Amino acid sequence: MQMAERSIRVRVPGTSANLGAGFDTLGLACDLYNELELTLTHAEGLEFHVEGEGAGRIPEDDRNIVWRSIQLLLSRAHREEYQGAIIRMKNDVPLSRGLGSSAAAIVAGLKAANVLVGNRYNRRELLQLATEIEGHPDNVAPAIFGGFTVSTMKGKRVETFSFLPRIRLRFVVAVPDFYLPTKKAREVLPETVARQDAIFNIGRASMLIAALMKGSPYFLKRSLDDAMHQPYRAKLIPGMYDVFRAAKSAGALGTVLSGAGPCLIAFVEEHDEREAAVGVAMQEAFARHDVHAEIKHLGIDTRGAHIVNHGKME
Ligand code: HSE
Repeated sequence: MQMAERSIRVRVPGTSANLGAGFDTLGLACDLYNELELTLTHAEGLEFHVEGEGAGRIPEDDRNIVWRSIQLLLSRAHREEYQGAIIRMKNDVPLSRGLGSSAAAIVAGLKAANVLVGNRYNRRELLQLATEIEGHPDNVAPAIFGGFTVSTMKGKRVETFSFLPRIRLRFVVAVPDFYLPTKKAREVLPETVARQDAIFNIGRASMLIAALMKGSPYFLKRSLDDAMHQPYRAKLIPGMYDVFRAAKSAGALGTVLSGAGPCLIAFVEEHDEREAAVGVAMQEAFARHDVHAEIKHLGIDTRGAHIVNHGKME
């Protein structure tokens, strides 16, 4: 074991991007977390301890995205005296399923390294760095700020508005047992968008934000649809539209593809006794297409990435 420097432990929420019509723009943070305990060392070399999602699957060397994010922050902060690290991860966010596992890894690395160099950057600056690494802001923004987020890009500059909705929601998430790399799910999308599809999405994305801020289930129900990515990605997710229909018949307000997929999310109002039935309906609909899916019942995360003060990881 290398001579240890200071350690820090951070927790970062899983996220869902797009929310239907808000491709590369809208996102939310949910109460499912990855934890990272980081020790920066002067000596070269990496030591990884990964528990939970991704254990045995994520690279434990220079290619690791947590480490690459740490390195980017250290180099921007001119703190390259740190040559190595001990990285302990405890992951609950499923890998490569559309719940923001790469964003959680990037934000965890940046947040932890930032604390260890004396909080050199604020959250907006971390957002900028995280977006540079991820390529789009819609997962990293809610991972940093929590809540629902609206992000815009002007050139490379990203701005994010985060808010808590005036309607209490639960998210019923069907997590299929196969991986879908974002790269593959982006390759099926056309380069250009027809005007009627742009209008379709602008209306729904705007109505979704209005419904969330006003607290209107009526308009929320009418805003969860998309013409820009879901129709093209459906072929990568057997039974997607059947799962959507099943969730709605069982009482969901609406359904969307989570990020690039393959997770599907149904929105349900808090205290709606049909929440459990929505999950069962989604699971059964997937099963009819020979897809085994685990069901998660999640709430919103309101904090975003934060430091966990007490105790070392086991
Ligand atoms: N907005 C992104 C996409 C999210 O749909 O491709 C996945 O990282």
